Amino acid sequence: MPARVFAPGAIKLFGEHAVVYGKPAIAAAIDRGVRVECSAWDRLAIETAGTPARLVYIPDEGRLEARGAERFLAYAVAAIKVAREAWGDIKARFTIESELPPGIGAATSAAVSVGILRAYAACASAGVSKEELARLGHRVELEVQGIASPMDTAVVTFGGLLRVWPSPLRVERLSAALPPLYVVVLPRRGTTGEIVADVKSLLARHKSAASVVDAIGALVDEAHGCLVRGDLECVGELMELNNWLLGALKVVDSRVVSLLELTRPFTYGGKVSGAGRGGVVVLLPRDGRALDRILSALGYAYYRVSVAEGGVTAWSD
Ligand code: PMV
Repeated sequence: MPARVFAPGAIKLFGEHAVVYGKPAIAAAIDRGVRVECSAWDRLAIETAGTPARLVYIPDEGRLEARGAERFLAYAVAAIKVAREAWGDIKARFTIESELPPGIGAATSAAVSVGILRAYAACASAGVSKEELARLGHRVELEVQGIASPMDTAVVTFGGLLRVWPSPLRVERLSAALPPLYVVVLPRRGTTGEIVADVKSLLARHKSAASVVDAIGALVDEAHGCLVRGDLECVGELMELNNWLLGALKVVDSRVVSLLELTRPFTYGGKVSGAGRGGVVVLLPRDGRALDRILSALGYAYYRVSVAEGGVTAWSD
């Protein structure tokens, strides 16, 4: 019965937002993520561990509390609902511990969703394929956000650097040697659901904005070529171009632009990663040491992350 699960976070290198409208995207699982443990108990309970933020959910007692972990709560509740439908009721205690702050654009919501689903299946002694996990994880995101592509949940599930086509879901594993990437975290204005809804309404108001989505789709194909050739100059330049296209969709603000300007001498390029309006900005380093120095000197919160090949993984004790 006891099981431990690691679900990686993910960064989006190219194509977010356009992927919601059927375009391909390129994203990578990273070596930081969410850990979920489950063990037998006298009822079903979910709690967070290891952070000051706290979440407690005991469905049968109608108990639901979240302090500082509100963004995880909706995903945890929806994941448990989907898991119960798929594998029946179990009495178990789940603890969730995140190595990344929630709601920044590092796919922590997908990692919580897929991590809980995987742990639930393990504790229910049910077999589950990665394809099914990706599908159920996407269902959880759709329930919470209303609109969501299957990109994050697929990357968290399968791991690695992936080109993702959203409908029907198809993934291609890329072997590209990337240096450790820098993930800078800016306070985020709005949730993924709200920002995705704003982009949808912008596209509805202006027919010409559809050409921005098309341009992002074309850029993803070009970036794929640069990545597999190992041409980091080209990858970095296209990251910048992708960032300006995201700016046209109104999800890039001046904080991101000035961060990219300040760090440009030490990077090949960078961009918002995820829904935007702050959150994660991913930088492709040219000179990692200099980048460390400037980011620390300017007081930015950041992580250095590597691509994690394995997706969600479960161990039984
Ligand atoms: O900010 P995140 O990690 O939730 O990523 C959202 C990515 C979008 O393309 C903007 C939305 C989606 O569902 O793909």
